[in-house]
Amino acid sequence: MTVPSGISDTMAVSARDRRFMAAAIRLARWHEGRTGSNPSVATLIVREIDGAPVIVGRGVTAIGGRPHAEPQALAEAGELARGATAYVTLEPCAHHGRTPPCAEALVASGVTRVVAAATDPDERVSGRGYAILRAAGIEVEEGVLAREAERDLAGYLKRRTSNRAHVTLKLAVSANGMIGRRDGRQVAITGEIARHQVHALRARSDVILIGVGTAINDDPELTCRLPGLEDRSPVRLVLDTQLRLPAGSRLVATARDVPLWIATAAAPDDPRRAELAELGVEFLACDAHDGRIALPELLEDIAARGLSTVFVEGGADVARTFLAEDLVDRLILLTGEGSVDGDAVNAPVTRTTIPEAFRLVASMTYGTDQMDEYERA
Ligand SMILES: NC(=O)c1ccc[n+]([C@@H]2O[C@H](COP(=O)([O-])OP(=O)(O)OC[C@H]3O[C@@H](n4cnc5c(N)ncnc54)[C@H](OP(=O)(O)O)[C@@H]3O)[C@@H](O)[C@H]2O)c1
Repeated sequence: MTVPSGISDTMAVSARDRRFMAAAIRLARWHEGRTGSNPSVATLIVREIDGAPVIVGRGVTAIGGRPHAEPQALAEAGELARGATAYVTLEPCAHHGRTPPCAEALVASGVTRVVAAATDPDERVSGRGYAILRAAGIEVEEGVLAREAERDLAGYLKRRTSNRAHVTLKLAVSANGMIGRRDGRQVAITGEIARHQVHALRARSDVILIGVGTAINDDPELTCRLPGLEDRSPVRLVLDTQLRLPAGSRLVATARDVPLWIATAAAPDDPRRAELAELGVEFLACDAHDGRIALPELLEDIAARGLSTVFVEGGADVARTFLAEDLVDRLILLTGEGSVDGDAVNAPVTRTTIPEAFRLVASMTYGTDQMDEYERA
């Protein structure tokens, strides 16, 4: 492999740019849900070698959030970064934190072109990262596959722009528009493939949220149980105004292994607090509104803890309230082919009653089940 000296791929090649940005976006997904308060972003360093573009460095935000993607990719590229193009899924940071700004690291590396997808709304960065690069004579191409990158970064972007966590509501709905049974009898609405997909979605989230009704009725564990991803279970959060969650539930039984938080308005000296705390449960002190946990404030508290994405898994009451309060950013409906009869629970939303504010962004078939994903327009 020969590396011609002084080679520089400063020509804008848009098909190539989209191809490498798509690869960078895929790489960024590796650490989704594992980078703490930082977003999972990726960098690729690409240069011409023997007449073809070659990836000579790659980096994804490390688990825990540091180091950032750029210094890792530049370290792998070494001298090969000189004259190369850097693909970054989010604008490089411009502020001095625990490490020097990534924009300065890119300048020092000798890259001559930076292609970026999403702009960072963090006021310490927004536009400043690009300005540092341009001031150093680096050609900057902004907004390449921005929408695609922004979809993956939706949690971080929501937290930065609205100071609240991003909400995905997932519901499994039977062919006759039901989501379960009231009598506690378990009913499988979707098949194994869809269930595995839900576990993968859990692994990409910071928080899984349910109401205490589901916790009592279904006694779920709410962990990620895909082989190899067992350590990717996020925080589990139960809305439980009066602390009704049984100490013998599966959620409490696993609280020492996977964090379990309860959002409650119960009095600080309520004896059930001490009993549950003894078993490893943590509490979020919440405001009550009309006798229920106040959701906008709860989402702000979650964001203030550096968590960006909440995956709401029901049940009916909780789903209905999130929808009614306009707090759902993404809606995932899994529609099974069977019916739920008897004392069944109506779905608060089905494929035929999608609120106007949402548009369909993806549809898939999982075995005999249909998955439809909607986003706020
Ligand atoms: N198919 C699916 O995707 C799916 C998923 C989950 C559950 N389910 C089914 O849904 C059924 C349970 O639904 P559910 O409606 O009885 O229970 P739920 O929605 O899970 O929980 C409702 C309870 O949450 C508490 N809560 C606290 N703050 C709230 C707020 N702001 N908004 C709404 N609720 C709040 C309330 O109890 P307190 O006032 O005591 O706090 C309320 O009674 C079960 O049949 C289950 O199988 C289906």
